[in-house]
Order: sequence, then structure tokens, then C-alpha cells
Amino acid sequence: MDDHAPLIERAFSFTPREQAYVIENIKGEIPEFIRGSYYLNGPARFSRGGFKYSHWLDGDGMACALHFEHGGRVQFTNRFVRGTKFVVEEDQGHPVFRAFGTTFKTSGPASEYDRLKRDIMIESPLNVSIYPYRGTVIAFGEQGIPLELDPETLETKGEFNFGGRLNDVSPFSAHPKFDSATGEMFNFGIAFSSAQPCLNLYRFDVGGKLLYRKRLPLDYPCSIHDFSLSQSYAVFYLSPYILNMEALARDGRTLMDSLSWEPERGSHLLIVSRETGERVAYIPIGNRYCLHLINCFEKDDRLTVDVLEMERPIYDQYKRVPDLFTDVCEGQPVRFVIDVDSNELVKTAAIDYLLAPDFPSVSPRAFTKPYRDFWMLGISATGRCGRKFFDQLVHADWASAKARDIYQAPPLHYLGGEPIFISNPHDEKAGVIICQVFDAELIVSAFALFDAFNVARGPIALLGLKEPIHLGFHASFNPNRKGFKTARVSVARSEMTGKT
Ligand SMILES: [Fe+2]
Repeated sequence: MDDHAPLIERAFSFTPREQAYVIENIKGEIPEFIRGSYYLNGPARFSRGGFKYSHWLDGDGMACALHFEHGGRVQFTNRFVRGTKFVVEEDQGHPVFRAFGTTFKTSGPASEYDRLKRDIMIESPLNVSIYPYRGTVIAFGEQGIPLELDPETLETKGEFNFGGRLNDVSPFSAHPKFDSATGEMFNFGIAFSSAQPCLNLYRFDVGGKLLYRKRLPLDYPCSIHDFSLSQSYAVFYLSPYILNMEALARDGRTLMDSLSWEPERGSHLLIVSRETGERVAYIPIGNRYCLHLINCFEKDDRLTVDVLEMERPIYDQYKRVPDLFTDVCEGQPVRFVIDVDSNELVKTAAIDYLLAPDFPSVSPRAFTKPYRDFWMLGISATGRCGRKFFDQLVHADWASAKARDIYQAPPLHYLGGEPIFISNPHDEKAGVIICQVFDAELIVSAFALFDAFNVARGPIALLGLKEPIHLGFHASFNPNRKGFKTARVSVARSEMTGKT
């Protein structure tokens, strides 16, 4: 099989050390307007006690922060997210819980290596996303209660249960949405019961109080990873990627192996009123898959829903680490325009970029509003057999329906982390994109800053790290970094014990 990501195994073979330091290796200029904290979460460690995880979603979550300060000073911090899974497995020195795509049950007594949370769900490695929220920072895994981290040091402070409104089996996704115009937060979670599958929609007010938790029935227990907000609606792209809970809980399968793709059932847009939490529309849209949505907005009685649509689900391409995306399918930014009076799909459009795009991002100013530009990562070798990885940063715009502004990483360099847009407060049409670069030849990690509207030019600044870190998933930026404590370094238990 061809290799389109030579040496990518080097990005998955080490355990990043927990550190905190001022970045000294800076090439180029950091724009003066960048002030605040960038956060990134992702799976960072894929082995423990001699056991190796085979799926990208299985690695222990590690949070990273870049604190941008006055005079171009940038402080880097990274720490593992210490949820139950991490703490218990660190203590025992080997895997204890079944993971999303890996089980070690054949290696020992099932109870020792293959535990589920309350015998029904995966104990999350809390490795998907991280967001600033009401003066603190919260790290999320797939479908579970998030953890609060110290915004400066990233030390784990404990479960964040929204004033007791969540418990440790509450379905709660890794993609909450924050509306800065109203101060509200929305999130969702799926109850995968085969008899009564439903989507839980949560609405929190500006004070963090839960305004409602609505349960919307689903036709089938489908895996949903993300959603989007417009000013009036919460929008879900439901794909028939169906979770068989009995296979997970009773038959001992991994979550990955309990999912089935049943395209004959069709995909739908589910549109829900933000105000009431009630279903407004359910619109058939073919039979494709969507992992991430780009943005939604309303204009002139039309609701526009922008998504990254793929031919089929992608999770099977996240294994076996480090040989990812071996036969990843094409994907594409797709726009659905809906008449909100008749609830009919009136128009569909697409952008001519097919190279398995993921991690879409828009300017914070564009969220829920009409907009034109967005950014995403892509895989240049899509369509060719063999392992591959993200190596393009793409700037696309709906006005031209093109993705003409593309940064192609050099050979042996790979990109990671949702490309985050940082607005220039002095110029509405300007901004910077941050994403990760891993140099597999030298085993060196950096964060790269790009002119958001000319990414093809290459990085305007490179922030070189002292030691390599993992390739992350989702990121966020908090421009209001005030009153944080002074960072301090503490050493992970794994470093002290030498366990990996
Ligand atoms: Fe995601």
C-alpha cells in the first residue's frame, strides 16, 4: 500500500511531557492585536502499560494553551486532562476501561481491562474539545460530563456539572455552542435506547442557569457529533449512523464496532426552535454523512445551513493508529437553504473542494450571521489508497463557491487542530488563523499563524515548541484573558513513575 504520510507514526509514538514555558523560538512577527488564550484539546497518548490503542479517538486527552501577552510574549502550557479514566489507569498502570475503538478484554479478565461506566457507556478520555466559559475553561469528551480546568495552568479542577444539572451519565456532546450576542449556551446529547432514542437539547442562560432540557424523539439511535445555531434555531444533521447499545453493553464490542452505516434510511435536517426547544422541521436531504457543521444563519425568511458533507462516516478511518485515512472518502462543503415558512429545501450549493475536509471554522463575528469566509483542514492525497493525514489549510468563501486560497504543507509536515480565527479588532476584514504543524522529519511541533485571507502565502509566524506534542482536535480562543493566576509547572505522575 502506498504511503502518503511518511513518518506520520512519529506523531503518535511519544508521550508528550507536561510543561509550561515562554516560547523563545519564534520566527516571523506575531500581530500586536493577538491578546488572550488559545486552547487546544486532543488525544495525546496511545499506550499504557504495554497496551496500545488502535483508534485515534482513544488517546488520553491533553489540553494545550498559548497565552499571548504584551510585546509578543507567548507562554505555552500543556497538561493531561485528569478524568476518571486517566486517574484510575495511571494508578493501575494499564488500561482499565474499554475505549471507543479498542478493547483489551482478551488480554486478561474482562473486569480488569474492559470496564464500562455504569456498565452502559464509555468512560471518556476527555480528548475532543476545550472552551472558555464564564471565567473558566472546560474540556469535553464525546457524550459525557466535561471537566473544569484552570484557565492558566490547565490543572484539572473537577467535573463541571452546571450547578448540579448534569450527572455522570447525562448525554452531553463535545460541541456546545456559545452565542456571544445572548450569552446563552446550547448543547445536546443522544440517548441511544433502541426502544426510545431521543435527542436531548439543553439551553443555558447568560448566568449559566439551565432554562430547559428538551427530549426530541429520533427515528433511530444515530450518532451525532455536532450541531449548529442560527439566531432562532438549533440545527442538526441526522445521518443514519446507528449505535447498537446492546452490542456495546452486552456483547462486549467497542463503540466503533457497535455502529452501523445504514444509508438506505436517509439523512435529515432536524430544525428546532431555540426559544421553545420544540421541533420545527424535519427535512430529507439524501443519504450522506456529516461530522461537523460550518455555520447557520437566517436572512429574508430563509435559513441557511452550511455543513461538511461526506459520502459515508469517517470514524473507521481513525484506525489503526498511526495508519489513518487509508481509504478516506471525499467530502465537500455543502449549503442547504430552507424556506422557514414552508419548511422546504429550496436550494443546495457546494464548494469545489473534495479532499476530505474537516475541522471547519468561522470568525466569531460570523457565528449565526450571514458570512462568506471559512477555514478547514484537508488531505491532499484523498482518493489515493494508503495512509495519509491533514496537510492542507484551506480558506474558502461562499461568494465565489471556491477554495482558491490553500496552504500546502511541505513534505513530511502535517497539520493538526481546528484552525482558529482570531479577529483583528481594528479591521473587520482581517484576522489570523492558528493551527498546528508537526515536522515528522525532525520530530518538532510548532503553532503556525497565517494571514486568514492569504493562507497560501504560508505562516506569518511560527511558534516552535521545545518538545513535540500530539496533533489535536478542537481549539478555541479567549480574547478576554484577565486575572488568571501565574502559571506553574507540576510533573505528571507518568513522568515520575516512567509509566507509558
Ligand atoms: Fe468535533
